[in-house]
Amino acid sequence: MRHSNNATRCQKKTRKGVATREDLASSCFRWINQRLYTSSSEQAQQLFQKDPLLFQVYHNGYQRQLEKWPQKPLEFCLDWLQQYFQENKNCVVADFGCGKSAQLEEQLNGPNRKFYSFDLVKTQDPRVIPCNVTHLPLRNKSVDVVVCCLSLMGTDYAKIIQEAHRILKKSGVLIIAEVTSRLQGILDIFCRRIAQIGFREHLRNTSNSFFVFLVFQKSNESGQPTTTNTTRKNITLPQLKPCLYKKR
Ligand SMILES: C[S@@+](CC[C@H](N)C(=O)[O-])C[C@H]1O[C@@H](n2cnc3c(N)ncnc32)[C@H](O)[C@@H]1O
Repeated sequence: MRHSNNATRCQKKTRKGVATREDLASSCFRWINQRLYTSSSEQAQQLFQKDPLLFQVYHNGYQRQLEKWPQKPLEFCLDWLQQYFQENKNCVVADFGCGKSAQLEEQLNGPNRKFYSFDLVKTQDPRVIPCNVTHLPLRNKSVDVVVCCLSLMGTDYAKIIQEAHRILKKSGVLIIAEVTSRLQGILDIFCRRIAQIGFREHLRNTSNSFFVFLVFQKSNESGQPTTTNTTRKNITLPQLKPCLYKKR
């Protein structure tokens, strides 16, 4: 879809033919959100690079969604990391798709800890490193923990898992928090396939009805190339359902 159509798509008339600012912002958010879940990470990055305002609109809308959730997935990640740090003093953490600000880094950074907070584009927070996490400027086996909090968005998300495996040290940890509906009916196969890439499932917490919280530990060095395309012979990760938010 051409970029010039963005505004017209968002300018849907609502009640009595007049759209409020809030209605428009909400339509825009849903449109961007759908694009993120139905295109590759490269296309998503291009979308935001062409118009950085879309990144802001997306995050304002995402923030409004988050407020409706009784518990935030990032809080699960925070709690888990806090416990992990008690036993692991020197840590390098990579936050994949941190959002507009480096929230985990903000709350958890300290002596003997190094954070890399990545998102697709430059934001107002100088700690956020603009980067598509399918290709990271980090050495093999250089990171202790990778966090993917609702960031396995693109249709090529398998590359993100593969990249996590590449940069994680032996016994390094991969944390995934994802929207429950995206994994409905495929959670077992999703976890099994991630294990086949070279991870051991360490924790599966499905107690929250909005999101699933998973922790894997890197188990071996033989990460194989992965794809979400079923025609290739390598390990295939299932397509995750897009997380589409309802109209208010
Ligand atoms: C739903 S938001 C979650 C943000 C944050 N992790 C949180 O829990 O509040 C997902 C973020 O992942 C980013 N993202 C998605 N795919 C990415 C990729 N391939 N590389 C870097 N960032 C990505 C998006 O730009 C977006 O900011």
